[in-house]
Amino acid sequence: MTDPGAKKLALGVLVSGSGTNLQSILDAAGSGKIPVTIKVVLSNRPKAKGLDRARAAGVPAVAISHRKFDGREPFEDALITTLREHGVQWVALAGFMRLLTPHFLRAFQDRVVNIHPALLPSFPGTHGPRQALDYGARWSGCTVHFVDEGTDTGPIIAQAVVPVLPDDDEAALGQRILAQEHRIYPWVLKLIAEGRVHRDGRRVRVEGGDPPQLGAINPPPPDDLWPPTRRT
Ligand code: GRF
Repeated sequence: MTDPGAKKLALGVLVSGSGTNLQSILDAAGSGKIPVTIKVVLSNRPKAKGLDRARAAGVPAVAISHRKFDGREPFEDALITTLREHGVQWVALAGFMRLLTPHFLRAFQDRVVNIHPALLPSFPGTHGPRQALDYGARWSGCTVHFVDEGTDTGPIIAQAVVPVLPDDDEAALGQRILAQEHRIYPWVLKLIAEGRVHRDGRRVRVEGGDPPQLGAINPPPPDDLWPPTRRT
């Protein structure tokens, strides 16, 4: 349980579409499970459902259409100004479909994170689940990472893994991944809010974030072939 007196992370969330990740953050923040206050939700698409979700939760929701600006930097300046007006310290991208330039990233240096529906560095870009299927990967998942100037190339903070099943299509795999997105994004924001996420070059150290002691195989072999116990 979060100490109600503790200082909360002032977060801005950028969305372009449905906003189910935004919803998971709104729910976790609203119920006090994570020490985060969503100060404002911005969308480059005025009709994004994410804006409605924000309003329904009583969070300021602002549409800033990139089409109204002549170039990326003026658009980003409008984003930066609005985020600052709302006292935002950290920015979470949640299905935000515009690439951000160094101009924006400098304004929130090392304080912009994103969630991606693939196990990076595999399958960056816009179709993570489809690419994992087309490639024939046995595992997929999602990644929360710092945003840098590349496309889905920033240092990785956390990943969740799901199996690719024989009958999967893009929608089925996408939903399995999305369910994990809704778990890890609020969790990572809690870790950030608690000051437990530290960047060291490309590697990210999570204080108190001991990794699971397991290996998984898909398809799983029978136990008598290679028992899941340690050999010495
Ligand atoms: C998610 O799959 C996320 O990983 C990707 O965009 C999608 C956004 O979904 N960056 P939603 O708008 O949060 O439902």
